[in-house]
Amino acid sequence: YLFYGTVIQPQSLRQLAIAPRTLLGVYHSGKIAFAIPRATTEQFEKTKTDYTIDNIICLSRSQFLLPGLIDTHVHAPQYPIMGNGMDLQLLPWLDTYTFPEEARFKDDAYARRVYQRVVRRTLRNGTTCAAYFGTLHTTGSQRLVDVMRAAGQRGWVGKVCMDQNAPEWYRETTDESVRGTQQLIAYVQQLDQHEREQQQPSSSASSASRCHYHKAELVEPCITPRFAPTCSAEALRRLGELAAEENKLRERAGRPSLPIQTHLSENEAEIAWVAKLFPESASYTDVYDRAGLLSSRTIMAHCVHLTAEERARLKATGTAVAHCAHSNFDLRSGVLHVRQLLDEGLKISLGTDMAGGHAISMLEAMRGALTASRTICIMEAQKQQQQQLNDKVHDDDARSQLSITEVVYMATMGGAAAMGLHDKIGMLLEANYEFDALLVDTAAPDSPFDFFEPEASAEELLADKLYMRRLEKFVMCGDDRNIEGVWVRGRQVAGTPLAN
Ligand code: GUN
Ligand code: FE
Repeated sequence: YLFYGTVIQPQSLRQLAIAPRTLLGVYHSGKIAFAIPRATTEQFEKTKTDYTIDNIICLSRSQFLLPGLIDTHVHAPQYPIMGNGMDLQLLPWLDTYTFPEEARFKDDAYARRVYQRVVRRTLRNGTTCAAYFGTLHTTGSQRLVDVMRAAGQRGWVGKVCMDQNAPEWYRETTDESVRGTQQLIAYVQQLDQHEREQQQPSSSASSASRCHYHKAELVEPCITPRFAPTCSAEALRRLGELAAEENKLRERAGRPSLPIQTHLSENEAEIAWVAKLFPESASYTDVYDRAGLLSSRTIMAHCVHLTAEERARLKATGTAVAHCAHSNFDLRSGVLHVRQLLDEGLKISLGTDMAGGHAISMLEAMRGALTASRTICIMEAQKQQQQQLNDKVHDDDARSQLSITEVVYMATMGGAAAMGLHDKIGMLLEANYEFDALLVDTAAPDSPFDFFEPEASAEELLADKLYMRRLEKFVMCGDDRNIEGVWVRGRQVAGTPLAN
């Protein structure tokens, strides 16, 4: 099928491509066949004769395509407590609200029911790919895999591991942590294998890449120690060994390495506790580093209070930081100085951290990141004021503030880079990328905002200002009512059916 209209796509942290009148073709397999910006009528006609096209979707003036949103840190089983219990800080919050709710996922039927809601809601809100934490329960986590595959959402699923410092009714042995993780890996592998076997044999590899949609590798298992306090050094070490063993096999087979995710340096009390629990480690980051858990496919959530040495270690290992601004506010954990991490060249993506954060939508995660960056500016200005009490004049240094372009990058391409999927997703103007996208309409009939668009001058149209205004409006005020369609690997997974 073929789209014709405006495509907006981040190119880098500071660069956004706005490509009007783009012809974007998608193969049945879900791969992008071609993307021709500013296409002429002749090119349109030629495309129609060169390809067999099932469906043409012409976008209206207020619509544009955007790469799918990527939530790089989210707790699927915490959906039932979303928005409740934000009166406590991290550690008592876990004990009081989180562990009792997660323990309910022992019941597979309950797990499936909640996960179906989570996946439906996140897809509806444009989250095409998510790095999920499940619970301690292996079969419950397998249900999350099932639900994602059935709904067509991309992402990671982690069986949460904790073998210490948790209530006896929500804790496992070290062996169970490792075995459960192995079982989840084997489960996904078997599903993928089955999927590949189901594919019809085809005459050539290149026609297969055009024709056959499949779900293999849509969902990946992920090594998921909850965080250092609830994992013994032995559990962390054995999970690191499991990753290393698995990666040897994967490297030989030319497959991507195994994803890893956990929490790092979120809250002051947590950091002090880790220092006490792991006296042999130089830092919180070092606890994971010694266990072999830092890698180019590792995501560390939060990272609010890292030292320069810890940041350097994350950078050197290619480990990504999931910035979860709402959660950092809601649980009063702190304000991440994201500009500093960006300046140092770390990989930064965004996460909702639902239900540490009160929102499921990545639009909210972008707004949270913008607010956090402005809070840093305010804090810096206040500090400056205090230091120069007699000097009334101070500059409003807005350098720490993030731009719309930056948060959109972090929610799309940055997320793909954090998950090691940057060769596959995050781009719409590149042939061979998989089509994970949203169709946004800033003037949708039931839009949450009135878009009284000032008449654009020719100069504004040339300078892309009009589209920047629309994108900004969507990021700041939009919601699922502005998302008319959502696609993952070329399959429409939410919205009014438009094209498959
Ligand atoms: N640290 C350990 N577990 C959690 C969790 O569930 N949420 C958040 N925000 N931080 C954690
Ligand atoms: Fe979290």
